[in-house]
Amino acid sequence: MTHPLRLALIGCGKQMQKNLLPFLQRASRDHRPVVCVDPDIEQADRVRALSGAPATATSIEDLDADKVDAAIVAVPPQPSAEIAEQLLRQGIHCFVEKPAGPSTPSLHRLSEIADKTSDVHLQVGFNFRYAAALRQLHDVTVSTREHPCWLQIEFLSRHPSAPQWGVETTVESWIRQNGVHAFDLAQWFNTSPVQRVDGHRLPTTEPDRFLAVIGLHHADGSHSMLRVGNQTQRFHVSAAVHASDGSVYSAPSLESVVLSRDAGMPAGTQLFGQKPLDHGWERSGFGPELEAFMATCLDRSSPRFPGIIDALAGSQLCDQALSELTPSSDTTVTSVA
Ligand SMILES: NC(=O)c1ccc[n+]([C@@H]2O[C@H](COP(=O)([O-])OP(=O)(O)OC[C@H]3O[C@@H](n4cnc5c(N)ncnc54)[C@H](O)[C@@H]3O)[C@@H](O)[C@H]2O)c1
Repeated sequence: MTHPLRLALIGCGKQMQKNLLPFLQRASRDHRPVVCVDPDIEQADRVRALSGAPATATSIEDLDADKVDAAIVAVPPQPSAEIAEQLLRQGIHCFVEKPAGPSTPSLHRLSEIADKTSDVHLQVGFNFRYAAALRQLHDVTVSTREHPCWLQIEFLSRHPSAPQWGVETTVESWIRQNGVHAFDLAQWFNTSPVQRVDGHRLPTTEPDRFLAVIGLHHADGSHSMLRVGNQTQRFHVSAAVHASDGSVYSAPSLESVVLSRDAGMPAGTQLFGQKPLDHGWERSGFGPELEAFMATCLDRSSPRFPGIIDALAGSQLCDQALSELTPSSDTTVTSVA
């Protein structure tokens, strides 16, 4: 592997400009953007100017595989899986933003290609696994989670509030393209296989706003309860692990971890807090996840997760949740008078 790592930045829209490139620029690993790719040449040129890359291209067909070691891909779901496949086949390591493909079959196909090209690293962008508070919560509950437990995840975000990227409904867009983060977190905390999914969607007055509770029943008796939707004023992520001894460990936001019910320590004990806030590097997880990607490419250390298998499992859970949340399965309130 050459040093520095020669990077292609593929898909130069909001996610690349707002989250990926700024964190990439603060990363400690030795890297150099060499080309920015986007069919929208203005976007490619903007990212070229911001990143200092010497070249732009309008398609990955124009990439010279001998001059690129790895790619950061932030395109809509439809071309994601195809682009990742093409990169892997050319021996280019690939970080691809979630959901990494438009559907479960597309992710299944990508996982088969990844199997055949296992010397090339493929990582999927589920940044919340790298967010400091959630990582701390994960670490302090390792022994708790060896026994069946109850996990609560809240993942609320105003966007999308309209169907996007070829998906027909807002709920499906939201679940597949954004809410998949919540399913990924549930699988990371509760690794026992999910045997059953149920869901309930609260009626709301606006057709493109929803709030849902989704239950994942795990084989070991654990239960994950996800509260998700876009009926919210602002973005919010929280997680709590309820242990069988009655103690509750929670990350009420991305800034702290609290022992909120007794486990031998006074309730409310703060176990972790980030003060002062760190401009998002640790809080969002974007920085550490890109560092992990580059470290794996450069050192060829064991691949760090999440990978395509996690994205595929998350997508399958999205399929099941969506079948529960379709209007025909909505609970109708009947009078008992
Ligand atoms: N991890 C996160 O929290 C997070 C947050 C936001 C977005 N994302 C993901 O990032 C991806 C991009 O989202 P966005 O908000 O930046 O969208 P966007 O529409 O702002 O940007 C996408 C860009 O990709 C370009 N593009 C389309 N087809 C392409 C192709 N074949 N080759 C190269 N470029 C192509 C578009 O022209 C556009 O500039 C999505 O998959 C989204 O789910 C992840």
